[in-house]
Amino acid sequence: MKQFDIIIRNGTIVTASDTVQCDIAIVDGRIAGLGHDLGSAGQEIDASGKLVLPGGVDAHCHLDQPVPDGLKMADDFYTGSISAACGGTTTVIPFAAQEKGHSLRAAVEDYHRRAEGKAVVDYAFHLIVSDPTHPVLSDELPALIREGYSSFKIYMTYDDLKLGDREILEVLSVARREGALVMIHAENSDCIAWLTEALEAVGSTGPKFHALARPMAVEREATHRAITFSELVDLPILIVHVSGREAVEQIRWARGRGMKIFAETCPQYLFLTASDLDQEGYLGAKCVCSPPPRDRANQEVIWDGLSDGLFTIFSSDHAPFRYNDPRGKKPGGEEVPFSYIPNGIPGLETRLPLLFSGGVGTGRISVNQFVALTSTNPAKLFGLHPRKGTIAIGSDADMAIWDPERQVVIRNEDLHHAVDYTPYEGQWVKGWPVTTLVRGKIVAHDGKVLAQAGHGRFLPCALPEMAKPRYRTAGGNL
Ligand code: URP
Ligand code: ZN
Ligand code: ZN
Repeated sequence: MKQFDIIIRNGTIVTASDTVQCDIAIVDGRIAGLGHDLGSAGQEIDASGKLVLPGGVDAHCHLDQPVPDGLKMADDFYTGSISAACGGTTTVIPFAAQEKGHSLRAAVEDYHRRAEGKAVVDYAFHLIVSDPTHPVLSDELPALIREGYSSFKIYMTYDDLKLGDREILEVLSVARREGALVMIHAENSDCIAWLTEALEAVGSTGPKFHALARPMAVEREATHRAITFSELVDLPILIVHVSGREAVEQIRWARGRGMKIFAETCPQYLFLTASDLDQEGYLGAKCVCSPPPRDRANQEVIWDGLSDGLFTIFSSDHAPFRYNDPRGKKPGGEEVPFSYIPNGIPGLETRLPLLFSGGVGTGRISVNQFVALTSTNPAKLFGLHPRKGTIAIGSDADMAIWDPERQVVIRNEDLHHAVDYTPYEGQWVKGWPVTTLVRGKIVAHDGKVLAQAGHGRFLPCALPEMAKPRYRTAGGNL
């Protein structure tokens, strides 16, 4: 009789803390043994010359999220999750977004219907709180946090989503009471509106002007304000998609004062610059995202933050709008002024290979830091660890087997998302996840999808231990 369902033999196992040579035995979708001479199994995978990493946890991606103005995200939970799987990611955390005037609970129920039976990798939900009415703050949000939606995003910009300062403080207070983690999109909305109007008044409406309407100062100011709110409420927060020096300096300053400010960055701030918005004709629309990509010097600042521990997580912020699409980057079929271009770029499948090649391959970060940033830390920060984010006995057998020598030129035609472009077209990378397992099932191998829609399961998230307040101030005790 076979002892195990699967044994992965001869691989180099990499976790956030260790790199060891050993075999991995899997039973019923979980890791049941680590060691040598583990015995027999129904299926053997030879990982000689390969790295076996915990599957990636992409804690910031947008899939089938309802969006206003007739726009539509191209990826649903099937195409988004197969793209994730083929890029070595085994858990995704997209957003159940509240529409202003509607209940948060309704958004969660609707989002479950969208996900049901479709995902190939496991998934949890963050919430987006856009209308913090009294019933939302006193009933819906606390109940949802306790039911496993233990993190939510709030916006300081975008008319349909943004909260005022007072509202932010109210929302943070609920998060503190309930033990939730708040992710903050930090850009100053009024500054952006004023700059946008000024640019439009002189006819500067092409995609490249998106970056001029959102300079680093507007991100810096909002980041500092968010840090101030965090201090007043005594609540750790996560500043998402940090783009460059100015916001980084604010976060370093806060950390220097002993505050628990977590920070996330994304591939677009390492591999794109504002000049990618300044392509021929309207092509720059492909790279319109917020905050916008900066310049080469700022890319180095972000690399430094990844290597010295400023950043806790590295996410894709996959926001899948097709380029040649009246419901995507060309709303109504038109090449529109930059302020009407839907924000966001695709990146679920390329997140890990880009960071592996540009970070581990160049020695900027160790392979253990790579695992921490892309898998272990997001799993911890969102209450999924140790079930997810590590290779340990009892953990889900979610793994990506990497060929560190495989060289790939990124081509959109080889990717699995439903978007008609990648901003990284033609980029060369070394190191690629060749086999991906979710709970002991091979879901992707060599770019082929091997699991059925519906293999992925919903994951309720525990309250994040890592994001507990450090101090008890007057604000925190309110
Ligand atoms: O431009 C971006 N990042 N779009 C996606 C939505 C968001 O703010 O994360
Ligand atoms: Zn955002
Ligand atoms: Zn986002």
